[in-house]
Amino acid sequence: MTAVPALSFHDGRTVPQLGYGVWQVEDEVAADVVVQALEAGYRHIDTAAGYQNEGGVGRAVASSGVPREEVFVTTKLANGDQGFDSAKAALQTSLDKLGLDSVDLYLIHWASPQRGTYLESWKALIELQKEGKATSIGVSNFPIPQLEEIIEATGVVPVMHQIELHPEFQQHELREFHARHGILTEAWSPLGQGGDILEHPVITEIAAAHGVDAGQVIIAWHLAIGNVVIPKTVTPARIVSNLAAAELELTSEQVEAINGLDRADGRIGADPANPGF
Ligand SMILES: NC(=O)c1ccc[n+]([C@@H]2O[C@H](COP(=O)([O-])OP(=O)(O)OC[C@H]3O[C@@H](n4cnc5c(N)ncnc54)[C@H](OP(=O)(O)O)[C@@H]3O)[C@@H](O)[C@H]2O)c1
Repeated sequence: MTAVPALSFHDGRTVPQLGYGVWQVEDEVAADVVVQALEAGYRHIDTAAGYQNEGGVGRAVASSGVPREEVFVTTKLANGDQGFDSAKAALQTSLDKLGLDSVDLYLIHWASPQRGTYLESWKALIELQKEGKATSIGVSNFPIPQLEEIIEATGVVPVMHQIELHPEFQQHELREFHARHGILTEAWSPLGQGGDILEHPVITEIAAAHGVDAGQVIIAWHLAIGNVVIPKTVTPARIVSNLAAAELELTSEQVEAINGLDRADGRIGADPANPGF
């Protein structure tokens, strides 16, 4: 079985560096593909209340035969549930759907600064961790000022920050902030949502040199630069091949070549400073 490295959080826990994301996967499909992923050897699943597939993920974890303590499960607080009391209730709803007593990681899905409720939500996550319902706590889609604010106000540093990150959008400023604060960087849409980057000649030439596919090259690049990475696929062969990327070693020249693909206009998703939702 593919050996996936584990990275350490500052709270003493660890996370498998390569996981499996299930955004835009319907609940019934999630129940099937997450079993396939666990059978292939993934031990880290990334869902969210907003994906409306926590039920399917939970059924898959239960039916897979893999012991609960061997699977790292992340879910996320939906924007509409932000606030102290509502965030606490929202995790319980997620746990009920997942059929779990606790998640390994609970994230605030978006800072959504215009709502003005991210700090109260972070305080709720701190409580939820103390109650044992979330083993570790972190955030997603936080601009630097909001990250600084929650850290200064509570003294509690998120263990990980899940952000849009792919070869054409490399997030250097946030990664430097994370490095200074001991926060791991987790890449969402790591394959650029399956878009043109998979056909970029720099990527396809490296893939040809190793006899692998473009997706595997990009996943190996994320691992090489220290990201936690959660590619999504519902294609059975890619579920297996994406995981095998954990054993693909790029040369430093190949990593440098992909580092050179960063673009100022590379963002695909919403801007966390003003997502509009
Ligand atoms: N925190 C957030 O706000 C946020 C936002 C977006 C995503 N995420 C998380 O990050 C995960 C991954 O991001 P994502 O789903 O946006 O996109 P992604 O993983 O970058 O790309 C997924 C797309 O790439 C295709 N694909 C997967 N492996 C491939 C390969 N080896 N070769 C060619 N195509 C491949 C998939 O197609 P098939 O499925 O058809 O194979 C799918 O269309 C999500 O599932 C979610 O867990 C979080």
